[in-house]
Amino acid sequence: MAENARLETKLISVDPLSPSLREIQLAAKLIRQGEVIAFPTETVYGLGADATNALAVRKIFEAKNRPQDNPIIVHVASIDQAKQCVVEFPPLALQLAERFWPGPLTFVLPRSEYVSSEVTKNLDTVAIRMPAHQVALSLIEQSGVPIAAPSANLSGKPSPTKAIHVMQDLNGRIPLVLDGGSTLVGVESTVISLIHDPPILLRPGGITLEELQAIIPEIVVPPDFSSDQPISPGMKYKHYSPETKLVVILDGKDRPVAQIDSIGRANGGQPLILCTNPRHRHDLMSILVGKTPKEIQANFFSSLRILDEASYDVGIFEGITFEGAGLAVMNRALKAAHDIIE
Ligand code: TXA
Ligand code: MG
Repeated sequence: MAENARLETKLISVDPLSPSLREIQLAAKLIRQGEVIAFPTETVYGLGADATNALAVRKIFEAKNRPQDNPIIVHVASIDQAKQCVVEFPPLALQLAERFWPGPLTFVLPRSEYVSSEVTKNLDTVAIRMPAHQVALSLIEQSGVPIAAPSANLSGKPSPTKAIHVMQDLNGRIPLVLDGGSTLVGVESTVISLIHDPPILLRPGGITLEELQAIIPEIVVPPDFSSDQPISPGMKYKHYSPETKLVVILDGKDRPVAQIDSIGRANGGQPLILCTNPRHRHDLMSILVGKTPKEIQANFFSSLRILDEASYDVGIFEGITFEGAGLAVMNRALKAAHDIIE
């Protein structure tokens, strides 16, 4: 597709709990024709294409300007379909699937030839998950193929948790967005490698580390994800980032209001506090991201988009615990941060 070939993007509402077959079939037809469409999952909106069609998968990379070497997650609607995508589905995968699927847990396993190498790039492995969302499941079933789908944002932008976020980024670049309302989890799936023994946590996400450790106590957690490994201030990944400068204060939730306020001012201009402590609410120019780690997780990415829409010079995120849902939130916050205050 040429850069300037703008499409008309249709935005169609679907019932997230029991989507009507008519809308799903319209979307499924586009998938079978090798098109790329956006749809809701329980984590974030996905940008999907037929995972067995190389040309279709290439369109995903074009639509979101995704770096060519970043492989994509394949979404399935049954364990049998997952088995088609891999060379071997080991007993541990089955045990985890029975416990967490459908749900926000992705396994990396050896890839079968069924999945296009465009999905996995130069890797001989594939990442697979079964989403816990009726729209996503029904779309996969009606398409009759596994669906490759990264998050439906432009590369580098915060992941979309509402259809409007997808429209902000991809209007004119894809033919259809299914609008199933706000996603519930709000961060992407947890990714684990099952080709390593013991398994390795590759990305914290919707299933917590503690939930995984109940089944895999020996799971390897890279130092980047652990709370006791100090994160160097100023570290920049440039990922999920708002346009507005974002500063993350570690344990900001538990710091005195006066300190948050002075950090905000020291960062130049008018700060907006992305607040996680309701008691700070009225003393600062702020929005409340949420009260509990789960609530904060659900609202984190949309708060970054709100920060960009409001005209503040800097956003200050009050960092939370690294436990439970806090691990995924803090992982995203630190990746989005332009600066980190310890
Ligand atoms: O919740 C989610 O996972 C969402 C929804 C749409 O399902 N998808 C999503 O996709 O977050 P994406 O592309 O934004 O993130 C996929 C992650 C990346 O970190 C990628 O590097 C990793 O999964 N990944 C994909 N295939 C892999 C593989 N074969 N080996 C290792 N990592 C892989
Ligand atoms: Mg993404």
